[in-house]
Amino acid sequence: MRKNIVAGNWKMNTTVPEGVQLAKEVVEGVAAAADLKCDVVVGVPFTHLTAVKAVLDGGKVWLAAENCADHDKGAYTGEVSAPMVASTGADYVILGHSERRGYYAETIEMLKTKVDLALAAGLKVIFCCGESLDERKAGTHFQVIKDELVGSLFHLEEQAFANIVIAYEPIWAIGTGETATAEQAEEIHAFIRQLVAEKYGAQVADDTTILYGGSCKPSNAQELFAKPDIDGGLIGGASLKAADFMGIVTAF
Ligand code: PGA
Repeated sequence: MRKNIVAGNWKMNTTVPEGVQLAKEVVEGVAAAADLKCDVVVGVPFTHLTAVKAVLDGGKVWLAAENCADHDKGAYTGEVSAPMVASTGADYVILGHSERRGYYAETIEMLKTKVDLALAAGLKVIFCCGESLDERKAGTHFQVIKDELVGSLFHLEEQAFANIVIAYEPIWAIGTGETATAEQAEEIHAFIRQLVAEKYGAQVADDTTILYGGSCKPSNAQELFAKPDIDGGLIGGASLKAADFMGIVTAF
């Protein structure tokens, strides 16, 4: 049985004290929520991992980094490796976010390396894929998503693939206030699950958690999460206020 997950992606927001405060509010919200139907994850900047981990300890919220390096260690000034992330107690790393692909030129091949390093370090991966507005208008969105998944994930053995969560994030819906309709999202989620089924079989596909991301908020989460292939969300802007985030966490 696959898990439902709601994961926050704080991006480059909050100072460490602000992040610790936000994490405390999420922990309290989760503790107070009766009968939660999903796992809750907070994705935080590298600088916050250790301090936020201390707040999460003993609670029911999991911790994610937002990136890791494409090398294991060595002379890469300013980079943070997967083993470093894991050593903070983080459970997940978000990889392949469109902002990393777009602003930092992360390629499919580079992300394949990052996925391997993250899994080798014992992290689970929230792997993002999604098309731009131009690609959707051109009708190439299915192929774009397929290329991203095949190129960075489908070399994995079945056992390793069990540690992958996929996040579908149409770039045109990220931070724009424009959400994909629940039908548009479901269409892609079903397509992704079919790709996984073709590669790994129906059981693995059924067990794979596929999140939607892009202007997900309390007012639209319920409709999105009601779709059969949408197993939760990767939440940017709305994860920066505990009340909004909890409104999504409790939307199942
Ligand atoms: P958004 O971001 O919720 O602010 O649209 C989602 C994401 O980029 O993960």
